[in-house]
Amino acid sequence: MKTLVVYLSQKGYMKEVSERIGSGLNCEIHNLADGAPALISEYDNIVISAAIFARKYPAKMAQFCNNQLNLKRGSHLYFVVGGFEKDNIETYLKKSINQDILTKTKSITYAGAKYDPKEHKTMTHIIMKFMQGNRFVNETAWENIDSLVNSILESE
Ligand SMILES: Cc1cc2nc3c(=O)[nH]c(=O)nc-3n(C[C@H](O)[C@H](O)[C@H](O)COP(=O)(O)O)c2cc1C
Repeated sequence: MKTLVVYLSQKGYMKEVSERIGSGLNCEIHNLADGAPALISEYDNIVISAAIFARKYPAKMAQFCNNQLNLKRGSHLYFVVGGFEKDNIETYLKKSINQDILTKTKSITYAGAKYDPKEHKTMTHIIMKFMQGNRFVNETAWENIDSLVNSILESE
Protein backbone atom coordinates (compact mmCIF):
# COMPACT_ATOMS: atom_id res chain seq x y z
CA MET A 1 0.00 0.00 0.00
CA LYS A 2 1.25 3.46 -0.90
CA THR A 3 0.63 6.35 1.47
CA LEU A 4 1.26 10.07 1.07
CA VAL A 5 1.16 12.67 3.85
CA VAL A 6 0.44 16.22 2.63
CA TYR A 7 1.02 18.91 5.25
CA LEU A 8 1.14 22.63 5.96
CA SER A 9 2.96 23.99 8.97
CA GLN A 10 3.52 27.57 10.04
CA LYS A 11 5.99 27.07 12.92
CA GLY A 12 6.91 23.42 12.66
CA TYR A 13 4.52 21.52 14.92
CA MET A 14 2.40 20.03 12.14
CA LYS A 15 5.64 19.25 10.30
CA GLU A 16 6.78 17.30 13.35
CA VAL A 17 3.40 15.51 13.49
CA SER A 18 3.59 14.72 9.77
CA GLU A 19 7.16 13.43 10.04
CA ARG A 20 6.11 11.10 12.84
CA ILE A 21 3.33 9.70 10.62
CA GLY A 22 5.80 9.46 7.73
CA SER A 23 8.32 7.51 9.75
CA GLY A 24 5.62 5.32 11.36
CA LEU A 25 4.29 4.34 7.95
CA ASN A 26 7.61 4.57 6.15
CA CYS A 27 5.97 6.75 3.49
CA GLU A 28 6.47 10.00 1.59
CA ILE A 29 5.57 13.35 3.10
CA HIS A 30 4.96 16.47 1.05
CA ASN A 31 4.86 20.13 2.14
CA LEU A 32 1.97 21.84 0.32
CA ALA A 33 3.90 25.14 0.60
CA ASP A 34 6.22 23.68 -2.09
CA GLY A 35 3.23 23.25 -4.44
CA ALA A 36 0.67 20.52 -4.98
CA PRO A 37 2.03 16.96 -4.98
CA ALA A 38 1.95 15.07 -8.27
CA LEU A 39 0.21 11.77 -9.00
CA ILE A 40 -2.28 11.75 -6.11
CA SER A 41 -4.20 9.02 -7.90
CA GLU A 42 -1.33 6.56 -7.35
CA TYR A 43 -1.77 6.43 -3.57
CA ASP A 44 -3.94 4.07 -1.54
CA ASN A 45 -3.95 6.35 1.51
CA ILE A 46 -3.74 10.13 1.70
CA VAL A 47 -3.18 11.85 5.04
CA ILE A 48 -3.92 15.59 5.14
CA SER A 49 -2.24 17.40 8.01
CA ALA A 50 -2.66 21.09 8.99
CA ALA A 51 -3.66 23.25 11.97
CA ILE A 52 -6.43 25.75 12.65
CA PHE A 53 -5.57 29.48 12.58
CA ALA A 54 -8.00 32.20 13.63
CA ARG A 55 -10.82 29.67 13.81
CA LYS A 56 -10.29 28.57 10.23
CA TYR A 57 -8.83 25.61 8.43
CA PRO A 58 -6.01 26.94 6.18
CA ALA A 59 -7.46 28.11 2.85
CA LYS A 60 -4.53 26.72 0.87
CA MET A 61 -5.09 23.20 2.21
CA ALA A 62 -8.88 23.47 1.83
CA GLN A 63 -8.46 24.53 -1.80
CA PHE A 64 -6.12 21.63 -2.44
CA CYS A 65 -8.57 19.15 -0.87
CA ASN A 66 -11.62 20.56 -2.61
CA ASN A 67 -10.12 21.03 -6.07
CA GLN A 68 -7.08 18.82 -6.55
CA LEU A 69 -7.70 15.59 -4.68
CA ASN A 70 -8.40 13.23 -7.53
CA LEU A 71 -8.31 10.10 -5.43
CA LYS A 72 -7.79 6.65 -6.76
CA ARG A 73 -10.91 4.47 -6.52
CA GLY A 74 -11.02 2.69 -3.18
CA SER A 75 -8.34 4.85 -1.61
CA HIS A 76 -8.66 6.20 1.93
CA LEU A 77 -8.48 9.77 3.12
CA TYR A 78 -7.48 10.80 6.65
CA PHE A 79 -7.38 14.27 8.20
CA VAL A 80 -5.01 15.22 11.01
CA VAL A 81 -5.86 18.61 12.50
CA GLY A 82 -3.90 20.72 14.99
CA GLY A 83 -5.09 23.56 17.22
CA PHE A 84 -5.70 24.30 20.87
CA GLU A 85 -9.49 24.23 20.59
CA LYS A 86 -9.74 20.45 20.77
CA ASP A 87 -13.55 20.44 20.76
CA ASN A 88 -13.95 22.77 17.77
CA ILE A 89 -11.39 21.63 15.22
CA GLU A 90 -13.78 19.24 13.52
CA THR A 91 -16.39 21.98 13.10
CA TYR A 92 -13.79 24.34 11.57
CA LEU A 93 -12.54 21.62 9.23
CA LYS A 94 -16.05 20.73 8.07
CA LYS A 95 -16.82 24.37 7.27
CA SER A 96 -13.98 24.48 4.75
CA ILE A 97 -14.04 21.04 3.17
CA ASN A 98 -16.64 20.01 0.58
CA GLN A 99 -19.17 17.36 1.48
CA ASP A 100 -18.01 14.93 -1.22
CA ILE A 101 -14.49 14.98 0.25
CA LEU A 102 -15.82 14.55 3.80
CA THR A 103 -17.85 11.55 2.61
CA LYS A 104 -14.61 9.92 1.48
CA THR A 105 -12.88 10.66 4.81
CA LYS A 106 -12.10 7.68 6.99
CA SER A 107 -11.10 9.58 10.13
CA ILE A 108 -10.31 12.98 11.62
CA THR A 109 -7.50 12.87 14.19
CA TYR A 110 -6.79 15.62 16.72
CA ALA A 111 -3.07 16.41 16.69
CA GLY A 112 -2.73 18.78 19.66
CA ALA A 113 -1.00 22.17 19.39
CA LYS A 114 2.20 24.03 20.04
CA TYR A 115 2.46 27.75 20.49
CA ASP A 116 5.50 29.63 21.69
CA PRO A 117 4.81 33.36 22.34
CA LYS A 118 8.52 34.10 21.70
CA GLU A 119 8.17 33.05 18.08
CA HIS A 120 5.44 35.53 17.23
CA LYS A 121 5.10 39.24 16.58
CA THR A 122 3.12 41.82 18.55
CA MET A 123 -0.11 41.52 16.58
CA THR A 124 -0.22 37.79 17.18
CA HIS A 125 0.37 38.35 20.90
CA ILE A 126 -2.66 40.62 21.06
CA ILE A 127 -4.85 38.04 19.31
CA MET A 128 -3.48 35.21 21.43
CA LYS A 129 -3.95 37.12 24.66
CA PHE A 130 -7.60 37.30 23.77
CA MET A 131 -7.82 33.68 22.64
CA GLN A 132 -5.84 31.72 25.18
CA GLY A 133 -4.03 34.10 27.53
CA ASN A 134 -0.89 34.12 25.37
CA ARG A 135 0.56 31.28 27.39
CA PHE A 136 3.08 28.79 26.08
CA VAL A 137 1.10 25.85 24.70
CA ASN A 138 2.60 22.43 24.31
CA GLU A 139 -0.30 20.04 24.06
CA THR A 140 1.00 17.20 22.01
CA ALA A 141 -1.29 14.27 21.26
CA TRP A 142 1.20 11.60 20.20
CA GLU A 143 -1.15 8.85 21.36
CA ASN A 144 -3.70 9.98 18.74
CA ILE A 145 -1.04 10.12 16.04
CA ASP A 146 0.31 6.69 16.94
CA SER A 147 -3.14 5.14 16.96
CA LEU A 148 -3.82 6.61 13.50
CA VAL A 149 -0.52 5.11 12.26
CA ASN A 150 -1.51 1.75 13.75
CA SER A 151 -4.98 1.82 12.22
CA ILE A 152 -3.52 2.57 8.76
CA LEU A 153 -0.98 -0.25 9.21
CA GLU A 154 -3.76 -2.64 10.26
CA SER A 155 -5.88 -1.75 7.23
CA GLU A 156 -3.08 -2.85 4.89
C1 LIG B 1 -1.94 33.33 15.05
C2 LIG B 1 -2.46 32.00 15.54
C3 LIG B 1 -3.83 31.77 15.56
C4 LIG B 1 -4.33 30.54 16.02
N1 LIG B 1 -5.67 30.36 16.03
C5 LIG B 1 -6.18 29.18 16.49
C6 LIG B 1 -7.58 28.96 16.54
O1 LIG B 1 -8.39 29.81 16.18
N2 LIG B 1 -8.02 27.78 17.00
C7 LIG B 1 -7.18 26.78 17.40
O2 LIG B 1 -7.66 25.72 17.80
N3 LIG B 1 -5.84 26.95 17.36
C8 LIG B 1 -5.32 28.11 16.92
N4 LIG B 1 -3.96 28.31 16.88
C9 LIG B 1 -3.06 27.25 17.33
C10 LIG B 1 -2.37 26.53 16.19
O3 LIG B 1 -3.29 25.71 15.51
C11 LIG B 1 -1.22 25.70 16.80
O4 LIG B 1 -0.25 26.63 17.28
C12 LIG B 1 -0.58 24.69 15.85
O5 LIG B 1 0.32 23.89 16.58
C13 LIG B 1 0.14 25.36 14.70
O6 LIG B 1 0.89 24.39 14.01
P1 LIG B 1 1.96 24.83 12.90
O7 LIG B 1 2.76 25.95 13.47
O8 LIG B 1 2.76 23.61 12.61
O9 LIG B 1 1.17 25.26 11.68
C14 LIG B 1 -3.43 29.53 16.45
C15 LIG B 1 -2.05 29.76 16.41
C16 LIG B 1 -1.55 30.98 15.97
C17 LIG B 1 -0.08 31.21 15.95
